[in-house]
Amino acid sequence: MTIDKQLPSTRTAELDSICLKAEVIPVITIERLEDAVPLGRALVEGGLSVLEITLRTDCALEAIKRMKEALPGASIGVGTVLTPAQYRQAEQVGADFVVTPGATDALYRYGVESPVPMLPGVSTISELMTGWQYGYRRFKFFPAESSGGAKAIKAFGAPIPEARFCPTGGIKQDTAADWLALDQVLCVGGSWLVPQGEVDREAIRARAQSATRLV
Ligand code: 3PG
Repeated sequence: MTIDKQLPSTRTAELDSICLKAEVIPVITIERLEDAVPLGRALVEGGLSVLEITLRTDCALEAIKRMKEALPGASIGVGTVLTPAQYRQAEQVGADFVVTPGATDALYRYGVESPVPMLPGVSTISELMTGWQYGYRRFKFFPAESSGGAKAIKAFGAPIPEARFCPTGGIKQDTAADWLALDQVLCVGGSWLVPQGEVDREAIRARAQSATRLV
């Protein structure tokens, strides 16, 4: 593998402003298109204005388009991006950022030239080192709880102290604060704010409000 291109260093500050805007990023899977805007609005009203919509359902891209239009103050990211083709789709619907569960060379390369910032998912020091060579400094740590938890993130900090993370995977309301207290953690993500099938806007707003009190 030849690393012939590098991410511009300005990308780090762009990602920091997204990660630090709310510090808790709901990971949302939209099952029904008509739920997208009401769910997003409930989260924003509850104080969470950075949302990750997963590409796990057929209506995800259209949902993101609608949320972008209806919630102009929110930062809407596209998650579960597995390939450069999906990264391109995220660009086309106006995503503010892209999140990947893992990091392939193809995604790292695509992200270097994309106008849309990416938080690549890593769970090992080798994936982190590869991203580092491309100029990536901000990563999703996934799946956080089952990949060594806080101990793993702290261990990554010995060889690569400047890396910063958004841990996701198994994090809940009652564990998020411990993650946020780590020096290397900028924000946390998770689906606990909108559990699968949840459409009760009041409950979602209340969960978002509880999450904002963590930071
Ligand atoms: C993700 O893609 O980030 C995860 O599905 C979120 O993990 P969680 O469901 O364990 O919060």
